[in-house]
Amino acid sequence: MKVDRNSAAADLATVLGDWVSAPGPRYRTLAEALSDAVRAGVLVRGDRLPAERRLATMLALSRSTIVAAYQELRTRGIVASRGGSGTIVIAAPSGPGHGERRLAGGDAIGLRQRLADRPKDIITLALAVDDGMPELAAELLDLANNELPALLADAGYHPRGLPILRETIADYYTRGGLPSVAEQILVTNGATQAIGLAAQLYLRRDATVGVETPSWPGCVDIFRAVGARLLGVPMDEEGIRADALHTLVNQSRLDLLFVMPTFHNPTGTLMSLSRRRRVAELCDLHKLPLVEDIAYIGEPENTLPPIAAFGSGAAELLTISGLAKTVWGGLRIGWIRGPAQIIDRLARLKALADLGSAVLDQALAARLIPRVGELTARRAEIHRHQLTHATELLAASLPSWRWQIPDGGPALWIELPGADAHVYAAVALRHGVEIVPGATTDPTGRHDSYLRLPYTFPEETLTEAIRRLTHAWEEFTRHGPPADPVWPTI
Ligand SMILES: Cc1ncc(COP(=O)(O)O)c(C=O)c1O
Repeated sequence: MKVDRNSAAADLATVLGDWVSAPGPRYRTLAEALSDAVRAGVLVRGDRLPAERRLATMLALSRSTIVAAYQELRTRGIVASRGGSGTIVIAAPSGPGHGERRLAGGDAIGLRQRLADRPKDIITLALAVDDGMPELAAELLDLANNELPALLADAGYHPRGLPILRETIADYYTRGGLPSVAEQILVTNGATQAIGLAAQLYLRRDATVGVETPSWPGCVDIFRAVGARLLGVPMDEEGIRADALHTLVNQSRLDLLFVMPTFHNPTGTLMSLSRRRRVAELCDLHKLPLVEDIAYIGEPENTLPPIAAFGSGAAELLTISGLAKTVWGGLRIGWIRGPAQIIDRLARLKALADLGSAVLDQALAARLIPRVGELTARRAEIHRHQLTHATELLAASLPSWRWQIPDGGPALWIELPGADAHVYAAVALRHGVEIVPGATTDPTGRHDSYLRLPYTFPEETLTEAIRRLTHAWEEFTRHGPPADPVWPTI
């Protein structure tokens, strides 16, 4: 974790996460959480903790709580106060495997870590994830009964992907208006690995990546982990703004452009057909490599073609997708479609990473992709009910919150007028709900007064989450907005 003057408090609020659920006086649980962060190497010797007043503001706690927590850490020899330079970590990480080397990472890593930790009694709205589709079970059984002998008849290493799956994916794109052959497909472990491989291929330290603002914290972290600088491009209701992108590519040398044209995360915007054409044109004109991440796939004949369908061939346009949103995140099947010679280079990186994805999962994916239309229609039906339930509750309980019904995707992008969502997120956590504040999704640190609220939960969970959010909002508005908001730095 990067701790510096500007971002320290905001980062800490995110990294400490659900420390509030521990029993005991608040100052002591905060001290405990900070000391855990030191023990785990998230904070390392020499890091400066945020000033007391600033952390109090970010966590919406009294300053005396922070003063007492820091005092406790001083008594335990974990931090020291150095006149003029604030409160500094002096203890080293402990335990096996901990050196004083921080992992590269960012906000999304903390959020995902908590998904794995599954904190008790906290409803986490940090990730929008659905359960697996039941169709998967039937296909898996049929595969085990009928296909296994053929699959077991070869060595099982396919660094580029199982041939039948590569063909199925190529056929999927051809049906959707982007003629493709198997040589243009690389199978990966989820879209996440696909983005990581593209980052490895195109980016070096200090490379620049254009991203929509807001954007998905997962990709922001991947790009930051390779040392890239992020430049934000604003959006409108048709997707990334073409005028702003035009200005950016004329003014700065971008190494890569990353966009989410279909149900952008977090806004849910569907990029229009004309905007897709325009983005492809700009990339071609500037020979700017593009990664388009289409997490939400549907019946190819009924969805807009990927941006790559409008390219002239002058620029390298890569299309990334996967089955996480349509079928199940646990399947971990994603892919990249691009020019065959780029896929060749990416395949070398994939082979280096893991020699290829699991064959049984790939064989299952090859059966499920032709059923994507049917599966998406069923998911959409469930989501429609959940969205109605969520918006009715929100309108009744939190009338000052503002949102638009998204074109698609699993979340509402909500504006909390005049509020700092980072601070509200800290209050919400104390009321037992974890939310993603807008600034986490925006490398420029704007969208501070927004939050992403996934609605893809059972009705009882949503009802309870919104009840808690309402209580948290009452407490937050009593406390008042911070006088001096903190913008996390890039
Ligand atoms: C836009 C976007 N891309 C990629 C992913 C991750 O996909 P996968 O689970 O296939 O790695 C997500 C998951 O939330 C996402 O929202």
